[in-house]
Amino acid sequence: MPSREEKLATIKKIFENSKGILAADESIPTAGKRLESIGVPSTPETRQKYREIFLTAPGIENYLSGVIFFDETFRQTINGNRAQAEQSSYDGKTFAKFVESIGIVPGIKVDGGAVDSPEFPGEKITVGLTGLADRLTEYYSLGARFAKWRSVITINESLPTDACLTANAEALAQYSKYCLDAGIVPIIEPEVLLDGTHGIQKSEEVTTKTLQVVFDAFKKINLPLDEIILKTSMVVPGNKSGETMDSTKIAEGTARCLKTAVPENLGGIVFLSGGQTPVQATENLNAIQKLGPYPWPLSFSYARALQGPSLAIWKGEDANIPAAQEVFLKRLKFNCAANRAQAE
Ligand code: 13P
Repeated sequence: MPSREEKLATIKKIFENSKGILAADESIPTAGKRLESIGVPSTPETRQKYREIFLTAPGIENYLSGVIFFDETFRQTINGNRAQAEQSSYDGKTFAKFVESIGIVPGIKVDGGAVDSPEFPGEKITVGLTGLADRLTEYYSLGARFAKWRSVITINESLPTDACLTANAEALAQYSKYCLDAGIVPIIEPEVLLDGTHGIQKSEEVTTKTLQVVFDAFKKINLPLDEIILKTSMVVPGNKSGETMDSTKIAEGTARCLKTAVPENLGGIVFLSGGQTPVQATENLNAIQKLGPYPWPLSFSYARALQGPSLAIWKGEDANIPAAQEVFLKRLKFNCAANRAQAE
């Protein structure tokens, strides 16, 4: 029987010292898009190299408490040819074992992606529950102590439908049950997409409702909420709304939404960046933290807002790696400082 104490200790560690999570869990097609944007072909080797830039940046353990991997990266090894002084301790370790060795908790994305739903036209449903219990047992044995499942919620004049919100919420609850039984902390990520003409008000309404539907589904099967982490979008205006990103409004809307919809005994909350610029993602995190304290610990779990600037600098050239790592460390440092706003 997996221990409740171990899961609670994992959550405590994830939120310690204002640290956050790197979402390095892009699927192979998404990682391909990122690499193609800088003219680098997507192969297992280039994806390994891309991940290695971030994971071997010196001192990441001062800012990161967790890394979310995709299956391929979880199993790939540090190749060590750029690891200089510490080369011998890097070489040959899987990425997951490597981050664990420097005190960072390895996590794994386990959903099978969001696919067009035949039942709900224009909406997506996340798949991947088949065989999940066995996959989680294997990931636990390989070092994973938390997992992630993302569902995608679209806003337009007629969406989201209640039925699609419920179907995704039920899948999140079922996934969480499998995780908890395997000793793994579930991160649940119902992402309300930024794409669209909707204003911030609509974003708040939909995000609040999405989270309410999620936690209703969790209540139905009586899951221990203090063993679970929510990864949520911030309340932001649609990217075609014409509204500007106003940190004060975003923070107020996000704080109101979370206080309305999230049970107080949840283990913690992390934010995705969702297409915000790296600077916006940091400023908005800071503004949200300033409105605290909250009943839960809060932090970041960004992919694009942490990796984007480094990707643009790297361009696939080894000579650019130190500069790419420097920019990555700077983003990490700023986001950890943003997390500390409450204590200021
Ligand atoms: P972004 O921060 O790029 O939105 O990615 C976070 C994530 O994990 C998406 O599933």
